[in-house]
Amino acid sequence: MQIIDLRSDTVTKPSAQMRKFMCEAEVGDDVYKEDPTVNRLEKMTAEILGKEAALFVPSGVMGNQICLKVLTNPGDEVICDKDAHIFHYESGSAAALSGIQLYPVNGINGIFSPELIEPLIRPESAYYMPRTKVIEVENTHNRAGGMITPVENIASLRKLAVKHNLYCHLDGARIWNSSIKTGINPAEYTKYFDTVSVCFSKGLGAPVGSAIAGTKDVIKEAFRIRKGWGGGMRQAGILAAAAIFALENNIPLLKHDHEKAEILAKKINTLPGLKIIPENVHTNILMFSPINDSVENSLKKCSDKGLLLSTGNINTIRAVTHLDISFDQIDAACRILEEVFS
Ligand SMILES: Cc1ncc(COP(=O)(O)O)c(C=O)c1O
Repeated sequence: MQIIDLRSDTVTKPSAQMRKFMCEAEVGDDVYKEDPTVNRLEKMTAEILGKEAALFVPSGVMGNQICLKVLTNPGDEVICDKDAHIFHYESGSAAALSGIQLYPVNGINGIFSPELIEPLIRPESAYYMPRTKVIEVENTHNRAGGMITPVENIASLRKLAVKHNLYCHLDGARIWNSSIKTGINPAEYTKYFDTVSVCFSKGLGAPVGSAIAGTKDVIKEAFRIRKGWGGGMRQAGILAAAAIFALENNIPLLKHDHEKAEILAKKINTLPGLKIIPENVHTNILMFSPINDSVENSLKKCSDKGLLLSTGNINTIRAVTHLDISFDQIDAACRILEEVFS
């Protein structure tokens, strides 16, 4: 049976050319900052994101959490959307590793306005309250279904942050998807943020790796924290090479993932057993709900036919298109959905 794996874009495997590029990478000891390939990746990432410096880290979670650690002190608070990855999917690390709390707010499709959050910023005089320190934005937004936060919204949040002396952090695991969809350069998004984390191991197809970016001082401190948290990697150039390959070759290919998602969304919209809001499919993540069945049963029925999906938000199925899924496989996925949900 053919398996069509739409659980996540993290399931992509390194291509033959990517593996060759990895094999040929020059390496050194990155804990001494002597790995030329890691150094090249960090320089390249900083340039793409318009920041002074960048740091290669093993994962998106580590990237986000190091950034939060650098920007805060214990007892501080981070405002984020109620569906933020840092709130749901990072093992409570903000509390466990940095001693901070998150203030999840009621965004719409993962997007919140300055008007919504300004009243939530703690007054400086309120010594008995946590100290608001960071506004966190996720773009694209995973649990909201790959939604793109508009640049105007980000600019207005930045203005608010400046007014109240707050930092801004971007979880840009899929900022590449936003950029390809809107045509807006990644640096145009990231210029509003003090710290940014990006992933190479999702739609870009690298086997491992993320990066964080910010000022030289921020990255110097992040380097220290990464080591302390066990994230110091030695001949990591083999992995950094995959990320370089991904940045150089795979960003434009995300366009096809968005097209695949649109095809699926159109199909799902015709099926009586499923509910989707097709306009909410911005990039490569689709969220839809079964009408007369549970999510669990629905996932089982699809997986029995070779179509792997995952759970999304509450009572929601998630499908994610990616590099390793062909348009033919999307057609096959549509046929399976039709069989199960007609
Ligand atoms: C928006 C977002 N941020 C961060 C991460 C964490 O990345 P990783 O799995 O590499 O830790 C993910 C993972 O899916 C994500 O979707």
